[in-house]
Amino acid sequence: MSQADFGLIGLAVMGQNLVLNVESRGFTVSVYNRTTATTDEFVAKHPGKNLIGTQSLEEFVGSLKRPRKIQIMVKAGGPVDAVIEQLIPLLDQDDIIIDGGNSLYTDTERRDAWLAGQGLRFIGAGVSGGEEGARKGPSIMPGGPASTWEVMKPIFESIAAKVDGEPCVIHIGPGGAGHYVKMIHNGIEYGDMQLICEAYNIFKHAGFTTEEMAAIFNEWNEGDLQSYLIQITGKALEQKDPEPGQPIVELIVDKAGQKGTGQWTLLNAAENAVVISTINAAVEARILSSQKAQRVAASQELHGPTVAISTAKAELVKKVHDALYASKIVSYAQGLDLIKTMGEKKSWGLDLGRIASIWRGGCIIRARFLNRITDAYRSNPALVNLMLDPFFKKVLSDTQQNWREVVALASLNGIPVPAFSASLGYYDSYRAERLPANLLQAQRDFFGAHTYERLDKPAGEFFHTDWPEVIE
Ligand SMILES: NC(=O)c1ccc[n+]([C@@H]2O[C@H](COP(=O)([O-])OP(=O)(O)OC[C@H]3O[C@@H](n4cnc5c(N)ncnc54)[C@H](OP(=O)(O)O)[C@@H]3O)[C@@H](O)[C@H]2O)c1
Repeated sequence: MSQADFGLIGLAVMGQNLVLNVESRGFTVSVYNRTTATTDEFVAKHPGKNLIGTQSLEEFVGSLKRPRKIQIMVKAGGPVDAVIEQLIPLLDQDDIIIDGGNSLYTDTERRDAWLAGQGLRFIGAGVSGGEEGARKGPSIMPGGPASTWEVMKPIFESIAAKVDGEPCVIHIGPGGAGHYVKMIHNGIEYGDMQLICEAYNIFKHAGFTTEEMAAIFNEWNEGDLQSYLIQITGKALEQKDPEPGQPIVELIVDKAGQKGTGQWTLLNAAENAVVISTINAAVEARILSSQKAQRVAASQELHGPTVAISTAKAELVKKVHDALYASKIVSYAQGLDLIKTMGEKKSWGLDLGRIASIWRGGCIIRARFLNRITDAYRSNPALVNLMLDPFFKKVLSDTQQNWREVVALASLNGIPVPAFSASLGYYDSYRAERLPANLLQAQRDFFGAHTYERLDKPAGEFFHTDWPEVIE
């Protein structure tokens, strides 16, 4: 009998937790997993819940009320296409497939067109919050036709995280808009994480103990920097390994992993000529960290200054706080600029204030700070750059002396702070009335007759100089 309100395919960590979340809101959920033993174990582990375990896709599809609502939570890429291909012959007109994995937005656009051609409806939804978010309430970024969103809205709104009573889900836009915004969300997450790690690295070089650093992050979590990532950083630093009794963080190998959404963000920014230097630095920092063997060898060959930080601890904490806060604002300004640029290019009709508002709960970048971003775009939807909002402008002005001192101190002591310095470089470049690109244009005209505009002539008029011949 067709009795399930919702179906989910892919019972790994995200799928299982999402199913439990949906079920807990009063829906009956049918589940299917390629390895059917996983389905049996999952259903057996949750007796008394409104779950229907199925052994084949035919049985799964047959168990769902129409129009069927089927969420796929399998490994991104080929597996999503493989599952869709198997589903298509089993479905009826107007059934809905939701891809809730971390799919590349261009794949989502392709699948959207493919399924529309089959008379089926498709939603590409980014889901953030990891295992805990999936279970208790994630931030969800769905893209696809507005009419399909309306059908899915009651389920999505009931399972999403809530902040001030508002669910952390909105219809982001058509086609690949949801997965696109999720991708940039992940890029911003990379930026936040790297900036926190740079603060930690400065403290470490300045001789703070792990306990002292944990206390700093715990305290920061009570103020302007309050966020899930600051909170878990404090907790991670507190954690001791039971064996040697040392902080676990100091035993972890300094090689960062990544699954690709950061690199996708960089490629997209390059294609759209948008500067996301902080996020760029964060992705590259992970890449350099992964080259551990080369770094160990180079540490014997390439020398830097002896670290000597004499700043009083309390003063250093305040300065690093300000550097982190200012850099974070820049990172979000860049990520939002990319979303805005792409949204305009694709005519997605994106609402940056509402997008920031659904990141306030459920997701990895949830933070008090996002309220300010929402306010900034609510009071000025046409805001050109987040740094120009009156609130953020004042924060950047108030923090910049400390920010500069931290970047200078790190540089003089040979402590790498690629994301702090990229942020400051962006701030200084963005606010520069005049950049040295005049000389660059001269160089381009010199070797390639690329022409240039002149300050003393109307814009749009191009000039070329007959530069002297170079004799080598
Ligand atoms: N983990 C997170 O914190 C997180 C957070 C946000 C988003 N996501 C995204 O959510 C999605 C699911 O993530 P996950 O970590 O739960 O699982 P995952 O490790 O990405 O994928 C494992 C699941 O995919 C299934 N699968 C793999 N290849 C398949 C194929 N060819 N045909 C059918 N099923 C196939 C597996 O089935 P078998 O059991 O049969 O192998 C299993 O159910 C991914 O796109 C991921 O990027 C993950």
